[in-house]
Amino acid sequence: VTPDRLQERMQRALEVAEQGRGLVEPNPMVGCVVLNEAGAEVGIGSHLAFGRPHAEVVALDRAGKAAVGGTLIVTLEPCSHFGKTPPCVDRIISAGIKRVVAAMLDPFPEVAGKGIAKLRAAGIDVEVGVLEEEARALNAPYVCLVERNRPYFRAKWAMTADGRTAAVDGSSKWITGDEARFHANIRRGLMDAIVVGAGTVLADDPNLTARVKFARKAVRVVIESRACTPPQANVVATAREWPTMIVVGEDASVEATKPFEDAGCEVMRSPITSAGRVSLLALAMEMGRRRWTNVLVEGGAELLGSFLVEGLIDAVELYLAPKILGGRSALSPVGGIGLPTIASALQLDAGDAVRLGDDYYIPMWVRR
Ligand SMILES: NC(=O)c1ccc[n+]([C@@H]2O[C@H](COP(=O)([O-])OP(=O)(O)OC[C@H]3O[C@@H](n4cnc5c(N)ncnc54)[C@H](OP(=O)(O)O)[C@@H]3O)[C@@H](O)[C@H]2O)c1
Ligand SMILES: [Zn+2]
Repeated sequence: VTPDRLQERMQRALEVAEQGRGLVEPNPMVGCVVLNEAGAEVGIGSHLAFGRPHAEVVALDRAGKAAVGGTLIVTLEPCSHFGKTPPCVDRIISAGIKRVVAAMLDPFPEVAGKGIAKLRAAGIDVEVGVLEEEARALNAPYVCLVERNRPYFRAKWAMTADGRTAAVDGSSKWITGDEARFHANIRRGLMDAIVVGAGTVLADDPNLTARVKFARKAVRVVIESRACTPPQANVVATAREWPTMIVVGEDASVEATKPFEDAGCEVMRSPITSAGRVSLLALAMEMGRRRWTNVLVEGGAELLGSFLVEGLIDAVELYLAPKILGGRSALSPVGGIGLPTIASALQLDAGDAVRLGDDYYIPMWVRR
Protein backbone atom coordinates (compact mmCIF):
# COMPACT_ATOMS: atom_id res chain seq x y z
CA VAL A 1 0.00 0.00 0.00
CA THR A 2 1.59 3.28 -1.10
CA PRO A 3 1.72 6.31 1.26
CA ASP A 4 -0.84 8.12 -0.97
CA ARG A 5 -3.28 5.24 -0.73
CA LEU A 6 -2.72 5.10 3.03
CA GLN A 7 -3.63 8.77 3.41
CA GLU A 8 -6.71 8.25 1.27
CA ARG A 9 -7.84 5.32 3.46
CA MET A 10 -7.13 7.28 6.63
CA GLN A 11 -9.24 10.12 5.22
CA ARG A 12 -12.04 7.61 4.74
CA ALA A 13 -11.61 6.37 8.32
CA LEU A 14 -11.79 9.98 9.59
CA GLU A 15 -15.00 10.49 7.60
CA VAL A 16 -16.77 7.46 9.04
CA ALA A 17 -15.57 8.37 12.54
CA GLU A 18 -17.87 11.43 12.24
CA GLN A 19 -20.89 9.12 12.45
CA GLY A 20 -20.31 8.91 16.20
CA ARG A 21 -20.37 12.66 16.82
CA GLY A 22 -22.69 13.51 19.69
CA LEU A 23 -23.21 9.82 20.49
CA VAL A 24 -19.86 8.45 21.66
CA GLU A 25 -18.80 11.12 24.14
CA PRO A 26 -17.00 11.03 26.56
CA ASN A 27 -15.36 8.44 24.30
CA PRO A 28 -13.46 9.58 21.19
CA MET A 29 -14.87 9.34 17.69
CA VAL A 30 -12.99 6.55 15.87
CA GLY A 31 -13.08 5.17 12.33
CA CYS A 32 -11.31 2.13 10.90
CA VAL A 33 -10.61 0.61 7.47
CA VAL A 34 -9.31 -2.95 6.97
CA LEU A 35 -7.40 -3.91 3.81
CA ASN A 36 -6.69 -7.48 2.74
CA GLU A 37 -3.20 -8.77 1.90
CA ALA A 38 -3.51 -7.37 -1.65
CA GLY A 39 -4.47 -3.90 -0.36
CA ALA A 40 -8.18 -3.97 -1.22
CA GLU A 41 -10.73 -2.64 1.27
CA VAL A 42 -12.54 -5.53 2.97
CA GLY A 43 -14.01 -3.83 6.04
CA ILE A 44 -14.92 -0.42 7.37
CA GLY A 45 -16.45 0.66 10.65
CA SER A 46 -16.83 3.34 13.26
CA HIS A 47 -17.54 3.63 16.95
CA LEU A 48 -21.23 4.54 16.78
CA ALA A 49 -22.26 5.13 20.38
CA PHE A 50 -20.96 5.01 23.94
CA GLY A 51 -20.83 1.38 25.10
CA ARG A 52 -21.13 0.01 21.54
CA PRO A 53 -18.28 -1.93 19.83
CA HIS A 54 -15.14 -0.05 18.92
CA ALA A 55 -14.43 0.85 15.28
CA GLU A 56 -11.70 -1.81 14.91
CA VAL A 57 -14.08 -4.59 15.97
CA VAL A 58 -16.83 -3.40 13.59
CA ALA A 59 -14.38 -3.27 10.65
CA LEU A 60 -12.80 -6.64 11.50
CA ASP A 61 -16.24 -8.27 11.84
CA ARG A 62 -17.09 -7.05 8.36
CA ALA A 63 -13.73 -8.23 6.95
CA GLY A 64 -13.89 -11.72 8.49
CA LYS A 65 -11.23 -14.09 7.16
CA ALA A 66 -10.20 -11.57 4.49
CA ALA A 67 -8.33 -9.65 7.21
CA VAL A 68 -5.66 -12.35 7.57
CA GLY A 69 -2.31 -10.90 6.49
CA GLY A 70 -3.93 -7.51 5.96
CA THR A 71 -3.57 -3.88 7.11
CA LEU A 72 -5.72 -2.10 9.68
CA ILE A 73 -5.99 1.68 9.37
CA VAL A 74 -7.46 3.48 12.36
CA THR A 75 -7.83 7.12 13.46
CA LEU A 76 -6.71 6.44 17.07
CA GLU A 77 -4.34 4.01 18.78
CA PRO A 78 -6.26 0.75 19.42
CA CYS A 79 -7.14 0.19 23.08
CA SER A 80 -5.26 -2.24 25.27
CA HIS A 81 -7.46 -2.21 28.37
CA PHE A 82 -10.83 -3.60 29.40
CA GLY A 83 -13.33 -0.74 29.32
CA LYS A 84 -16.97 -1.27 28.30
CA THR A 85 -15.60 -3.78 25.74
CA PRO A 86 -12.53 -6.10 25.61
CA PRO A 87 -9.22 -4.70 24.27
CA CYS A 88 -9.11 -4.13 20.51
CA VAL A 89 -5.42 -5.05 20.31
CA ASP A 90 -6.24 -8.67 21.26
CA ARG A 91 -8.86 -8.78 18.54
CA ILE A 92 -6.45 -7.30 15.95
CA ILE A 93 -3.79 -9.87 16.86
CA SER A 94 -6.18 -12.84 16.70
CA ALA A 95 -7.59 -11.60 13.36
CA GLY A 96 -4.15 -12.12 11.80
CA ILE A 97 -3.50 -8.45 10.88
CA LYS A 98 0.12 -7.88 9.79
CA ARG A 99 0.27 -4.11 9.77
CA VAL A 100 -1.46 -1.35 11.77
CA VAL A 101 -1.49 2.32 10.79
CA ALA A 102 -2.84 4.74 13.43
CA ALA A 103 -3.28 8.50 13.03
CA MET A 104 -2.42 9.34 16.65
CA LEU A 105 -1.61 7.88 20.04
CA ASP A 106 -4.44 7.72 22.57
CA PRO A 107 -3.68 10.24 25.35
CA PHE A 108 -5.89 8.20 27.73
CA PRO A 109 -3.41 7.09 30.45
CA GLU A 110 -4.59 3.45 30.43
CA VAL A 111 -3.75 3.18 26.73
CA ALA A 112 -1.15 5.89 25.89
CA GLY A 113 1.36 3.87 23.87
CA LYS A 114 0.54 0.53 25.52
CA GLY A 115 -1.74 -0.47 22.65
CA ILE A 116 1.03 0.13 20.13
CA ALA A 117 3.58 -1.69 22.33
CA LYS A 118 1.34 -4.75 22.61
CA LEU A 119 0.82 -4.90 18.84
CA ARG A 120 4.57 -4.63 18.20
CA ALA A 121 5.27 -7.32 20.80
CA ALA A 122 2.97 -9.58 18.77
CA GLY A 123 5.12 -8.98 15.68
CA ILE A 124 2.77 -6.53 13.98
CA ASP A 125 4.33 -3.71 11.98
CA VAL A 126 2.97 -0.42 13.43
CA GLU A 127 3.08 3.11 12.07
CA VAL A 128 1.70 6.18 13.89
CA GLY A 129 1.15 9.71 12.57
CA VAL A 130 -0.71 9.46 9.25
CA LEU A 131 -3.05 12.52 9.09
CA GLU A 132 -2.32 13.11 12.76
CA GLU A 133 -3.28 16.80 12.65
CA GLU A 134 -6.71 15.97 11.20
CA ALA A 135 -7.26 13.23 13.76
CA ARG A 136 -6.33 15.57 16.63
CA ALA A 137 -8.71 18.21 15.29
CA LEU A 138 -11.52 15.65 15.03
CA ASN A 139 -11.08 14.62 18.65
CA ALA A 140 -9.95 17.94 20.14
CA PRO A 141 -12.73 17.79 22.79
CA TYR A 142 -11.73 14.26 23.83
CA VAL A 143 -8.04 15.21 23.97
CA CYS A 144 -8.92 18.31 26.01
CA LEU A 145 -10.92 16.26 28.52
CA VAL A 146 -8.16 13.67 28.92
CA GLU A 147 -5.24 16.11 29.06
CA ARG A 148 -6.81 19.06 30.89
CA ASN A 149 -9.54 17.32 32.89
CA ARG A 150 -12.11 19.78 31.63
CA PRO A 151 -14.49 19.98 28.66
CA TYR A 152 -13.77 21.70 25.39
CA PHE A 153 -15.47 25.11 25.44
CA ARG A 154 -16.96 26.61 22.29
CA ALA A 155 -17.95 30.25 22.54
CA LYS A 156 -20.98 30.93 20.38
CA TRP A 157 -22.54 34.19 19.30
CA ALA A 158 -24.57 35.74 16.54
CA MET A 159 -23.49 39.19 15.47
CA THR A 160 -24.15 41.83 12.85
CA ALA A 161 -21.64 42.91 10.21
CA ASP A 162 -20.60 45.69 12.59
CA GLY A 163 -19.98 43.27 15.43
CA ARG A 164 -23.06 43.92 17.57
CA THR A 165 -24.78 41.10 19.48
CA ALA A 166 -27.68 43.19 20.72
CA ALA A 167 -29.35 46.45 19.75
CA VAL A 168 -29.07 49.58 21.90
CA ASP A 169 -32.42 48.63 23.50
CA GLY A 170 -30.76 45.37 24.66
CA SER A 171 -32.77 43.07 22.38
CA SER A 172 -30.85 40.34 20.53
CA LYS A 173 -33.65 38.06 19.24
CA TRP A 174 -33.30 37.39 16.31
CA ILE A 175 -30.09 38.67 14.77
CA THR A 176 -29.85 35.77 12.30
CA GLY A 177 -32.54 34.08 10.20
CA ASP A 178 -34.26 30.69 10.38
CA GLU A 179 -31.54 28.64 8.67
CA ALA A 180 -28.82 29.89 11.00
CA ARG A 181 -30.99 29.29 14.04
CA PHE A 182 -31.80 25.77 12.87
CA HIS A 183 -28.08 25.12 12.39
CA ALA A 184 -27.32 26.40 15.88
CA ASN A 185 -30.05 24.13 17.21
CA ILE A 186 -28.39 21.08 15.65
CA ARG A 187 -25.08 22.13 17.20
CA ARG A 188 -26.74 22.33 20.62
CA GLY A 189 -27.91 18.75 20.18
CA LEU A 190 -24.26 17.60 20.12
CA MET A 191 -23.32 19.20 23.44
CA ASP A 192 -23.17 18.04 27.05
CA ALA A 193 -24.02 21.49 28.34
CA ILE A 194 -25.14 24.93 27.17
CA VAL A 195 -23.88 27.75 29.38
CA VAL A 196 -25.21 31.31 29.68
CA GLY A 197 -24.77 34.19 32.09
CA ALA A 198 -27.59 35.43 34.28
CA GLY A 199 -27.70 38.64 32.21
CA THR A 200 -28.70 36.72 29.10
CA VAL A 201 -31.51 34.92 30.92
CA LEU A 202 -32.79 38.27 32.20
CA ALA A 203 -32.56 39.93 28.79
CA ASP A 204 -33.71 37.15 26.45
CA ASP A 205 -35.39 34.46 28.59
CA PRO A 206 -34.08 31.76 26.20
CA ASN A 207 -35.11 28.07 26.18
CA LEU A 208 -31.63 26.78 25.27
CA THR A 209 -33.05 23.41 24.19
CA ALA A 210 -32.24 21.50 21.00
CA ARG A 211 -35.51 21.02 19.17
CA VAL A 212 -34.12 18.35 16.84
CA LYS A 213 -34.59 14.58 16.73
CA PHE A 214 -31.83 12.36 18.17
CA ALA A 215 -30.44 15.33 20.09
CA ARG A 216 -28.23 14.80 23.08
CA LYS A 217 -29.94 16.48 26.02
CA ALA A 218 -27.47 19.18 26.97
CA VAL A 219 -27.77 20.43 30.54
CA ARG A 220 -28.66 24.12 30.59
CA VAL A 221 -26.27 25.94 32.89
CA VAL A 222 -26.93 29.47 34.17
CA ILE A 223 -24.06 31.24 35.87
CA GLU A 224 -24.70 33.99 38.31
CA SER A 225 -23.35 35.30 41.57
CA ARG A 226 -26.40 36.62 43.33
CA ALA A 227 -29.18 34.17 42.48
CA CYS A 228 -31.17 36.88 40.72
CA THR A 229 -32.59 34.70 37.93
CA PRO A 230 -36.39 34.91 38.16
CA PRO A 231 -37.99 31.54 39.04
CA GLN A 232 -40.48 32.02 36.20
CA ALA A 233 -37.66 32.13 33.60
CA ASN A 234 -38.04 29.46 30.91
CA VAL A 235 -34.89 27.56 31.88
CA VAL A 236 -36.11 27.31 35.48
CA ALA A 237 -39.80 26.63 34.78
CA THR A 238 -39.02 23.73 32.42
CA ALA A 239 -36.28 22.13 34.55
CA ARG A 240 -38.28 18.95 35.08
CA GLU A 241 -38.49 18.29 31.33
CA TRP A 242 -34.99 19.40 30.45
CA PRO A 243 -32.19 19.55 33.04
CA THR A 244 -31.05 22.94 34.32
CA MET A 245 -28.18 23.74 36.61
CA ILE A 246 -27.90 27.08 38.38
CA VAL A 247 -24.36 27.94 39.40
CA VAL A 248 -24.07 30.40 42.27
CA GLY A 249 -21.26 31.62 44.48
CA GLU A 250 -20.53 29.44 47.50
CA ASP A 251 -21.85 32.17 49.79
CA ALA A 252 -25.33 32.32 48.20
CA SER A 253 -28.05 31.90 50.82
CA VAL A 254 -30.25 28.83 51.05
CA GLU A 255 -33.36 31.02 50.76
CA ALA A 256 -32.04 32.52 47.53
CA THR A 257 -31.55 29.14 45.86
CA LYS A 258 -34.64 27.35 47.25
CA PRO A 259 -36.97 28.46 44.40
CA PHE A 260 -34.56 26.87 41.89
CA GLU A 261 -34.43 23.61 43.82
CA ASP A 262 -38.21 23.60 44.19
CA ALA A 263 -38.51 23.97 40.40
CA GLY A 264 -36.27 20.93 39.85
CA CYS A 265 -32.98 22.69 39.04
CA GLU A 266 -29.67 21.43 40.32
CA VAL A 267 -28.00 24.21 42.30
CA MET A 268 -24.23 24.20 42.32
CA ARG A 269 -22.29 26.32 44.77
CA SER A 270 -18.98 27.25 43.26
CA PRO A 271 -15.90 28.99 44.69
CA ILE A 272 -15.75 32.70 43.90
CA THR A 273 -12.82 34.67 42.54
CA SER A 274 -11.27 37.77 44.09
CA ALA A 275 -13.62 39.77 41.84
CA GLY A 276 -16.53 38.19 43.72
CA ARG A 277 -17.67 36.09 40.78
CA VAL A 278 -18.11 32.42 40.09
CA SER A 279 -14.73 30.82 39.35
CA LEU A 280 -15.04 29.44 35.83
CA LEU A 281 -11.96 27.27 36.27
CA ALA A 282 -13.48 25.55 39.31
CA LEU A 283 -16.70 25.06 37.33
CA ALA A 284 -14.73 23.68 34.36
CA MET A 285 -13.03 21.12 36.62
CA GLU A 286 -16.39 20.01 38.05
CA MET A 287 -17.70 19.58 34.50
CA GLY A 288 -14.60 17.49 33.75
CA ARG A 289 -15.31 15.26 36.76
CA ARG A 290 -18.73 14.64 35.21
CA ARG A 291 -16.95 13.66 31.96
CA TRP A 292 -18.67 16.44 30.04
CA THR A 293 -16.78 16.74 26.77
CA ASN A 294 -18.44 19.45 24.66
CA VAL A 295 -19.76 22.64 26.20
CA LEU A 296 -21.27 25.55 24.27
CA VAL A 297 -21.03 28.97 25.92
CA GLU A 298 -23.77 31.12 24.42
CA GLY A 299 -22.91 34.40 26.12
CA GLY A 300 -23.47 37.08 27.05
CA ALA A 301 -20.63 39.46 26.69
CA GLU A 302 -19.74 39.70 30.36
CA LEU A 303 -19.55 35.94 30.82
CA LEU A 304 -17.58 35.41 27.59
CA GLY A 305 -15.20 38.15 28.75
CA SER A 306 -14.44 36.03 31.81
CA PHE A 307 -14.05 32.85 29.74
CA LEU A 308 -11.54 34.73 27.58
CA VAL A 309 -9.34 36.05 30.37
CA GLU A 310 -9.47 32.75 32.25
CA GLY A 311 -8.09 31.04 29.12
CA LEU A 312 -11.17 28.86 28.71
CA ILE A 313 -12.16 29.52 25.09
CA ASP A 314 -11.10 26.61 22.86
CA ALA A 315 -13.18 27.38 19.79
CA VAL A 316 -15.67 29.88 18.40
CA GLU A 317 -18.96 29.27 16.61
CA LEU A 318 -19.58 32.53 14.83
CA TYR A 319 -22.87 33.40 13.14
CA LEU A 320 -22.60 36.52 11.03
CA ALA A 321 -25.66 38.43 9.83
CA PRO A 322 -25.34 40.95 6.98
CA LYS A 323 -26.96 43.76 8.99
CA ILE A 324 -25.74 46.92 10.68
CA LEU A 325 -27.02 48.00 14.08
CA GLY A 326 -24.48 50.57 15.21
CA GLY A 327 -24.76 52.34 18.51
CA ARG A 328 -21.93 53.16 20.91
CA SER A 329 -23.66 51.31 23.73
CA ALA A 330 -24.73 48.25 21.70
CA LEU A 331 -23.00 45.09 23.01
CA SER A 332 -20.26 43.25 21.18
CA PRO A 333 -19.70 39.49 21.65
CA VAL A 334 -16.93 39.51 24.25
CA GLY A 335 -16.82 42.08 27.04
CA GLY A 336 -15.11 42.01 30.41
CA ILE A 337 -11.70 43.64 30.79
CA GLY A 338 -10.41 42.11 27.55
CA LEU A 339 -6.85 41.27 26.57
CA PRO A 340 -4.56 44.30 26.80
CA THR A 341 -2.67 44.38 23.50
CA ILE A 342 -2.95 43.19 19.90
CA ALA A 343 -0.04 40.86 20.58
CA SER A 344 -1.93 39.18 23.41
CA ALA A 345 -5.03 38.49 21.26
CA LEU A 346 -6.31 34.92 21.27
CA GLN A 347 -5.18 33.55 17.89
CA LEU A 348 -7.69 31.37 16.07
CA ASP A 349 -7.71 29.38 12.84
CA ALA A 350 -10.89 29.86 10.83
CA GLY A 351 -12.64 27.03 8.99
CA ASP A 352 -14.68 27.43 5.81
CA ALA A 353 -17.67 29.75 6.02
CA VAL A 354 -21.02 28.04 5.52
CA ARG A 355 -23.81 30.09 3.97
CA LEU A 356 -27.11 29.71 5.83
CA GLY A 357 -29.81 31.75 4.10
CA ASP A 358 -28.64 35.36 4.31
CA ASP A 359 -26.18 34.55 7.11
CA TYR A 360 -22.85 32.79 7.53
CA TYR A 361 -21.55 30.27 10.04
CA ILE A 362 -17.79 30.35 10.55
CA PRO A 363 -16.18 27.85 12.95
CA MET A 364 -12.82 28.77 14.50
CA TRP A 365 -10.35 26.95 16.72
CA VAL A 366 -7.65 28.13 19.07
CA ARG A 367 -4.10 27.29 17.95
CA ARG A 368 -2.45 24.90 20.36
N1 LIG B 1 -26.30 37.76 19.91
C1 LIG B 1 -25.94 36.80 20.72
O1 LIG B 1 -25.40 35.79 20.26
C2 LIG B 1 -26.17 36.94 22.19
C3 LIG B 1 -25.96 35.82 23.00
C4 LIG B 1 -26.16 35.96 24.35
C5 LIG B 1 -26.52 37.18 24.89
N2 LIG B 1 -26.73 38.25 24.07
C6 LIG B 1 -27.10 39.53 24.64
O2 LIG B 1 -26.17 39.86 25.64
C7 LIG B 1 -26.81 40.56 26.69
C8 LIG B 1 -26.50 39.91 28.02
O3 LIG B 1 -25.12 39.89 28.22
P1 LIG B 1 -24.48 40.47 29.53
O4 LIG B 1 -23.05 40.69 29.25
O5 LIG B 1 -25.29 41.60 30.00
O6 LIG B 1 -24.74 39.30 30.60
P2 LIG B 1 -24.19 37.80 30.72
O7 LIG B 1 -22.79 37.71 30.28
O8 LIG B 1 -25.17 36.88 30.12
O9 LIG B 1 -24.29 37.59 32.28
C9 LIG B 1 -23.44 38.30 33.12
C10 LIG B 1 -23.72 37.92 34.55
O10 LIG B 1 -23.17 36.62 34.84
C11 LIG B 1 -22.82 36.58 36.19
N3 LIG B 1 -21.50 36.00 36.41
C12 LIG B 1 -21.18 35.12 37.38
N4 LIG B 1 -19.92 34.76 37.33
C13 LIG B 1 -19.38 35.43 36.30
C14 LIG B 1 -18.09 35.48 35.78
N5 LIG B 1 -17.09 34.75 36.26
N6 LIG B 1 -17.88 36.30 34.75
C15 LIG B 1 -18.90 37.03 34.22
N7 LIG B 1 -20.14 37.02 34.68
C16 LIG B 1 -20.39 36.22 35.71
C17 LIG B 1 -22.82 37.98 36.70
O11 LIG B 1 -23.89 38.01 37.58
P3 LIG B 1 -23.80 38.86 38.91
O12 LIG B 1 -24.09 40.25 38.47
O13 LIG B 1 -24.84 38.22 39.76
O14 LIG B 1 -22.42 38.72 39.43
C18 LIG B 1 -23.04 38.85 35.50
O15 LIG B 1 -23.87 39.92 35.79
C19 LIG B 1 -28.25 40.58 26.37
O16 LIG B 1 -28.59 41.82 25.80
C20 LIG B 1 -28.40 39.49 25.36
O17 LIG B 1 -29.48 39.74 24.52
C21 LIG B 1 -26.55 38.15 22.74
ZN1 LIG C 1 -10.90 -0.46 21.42
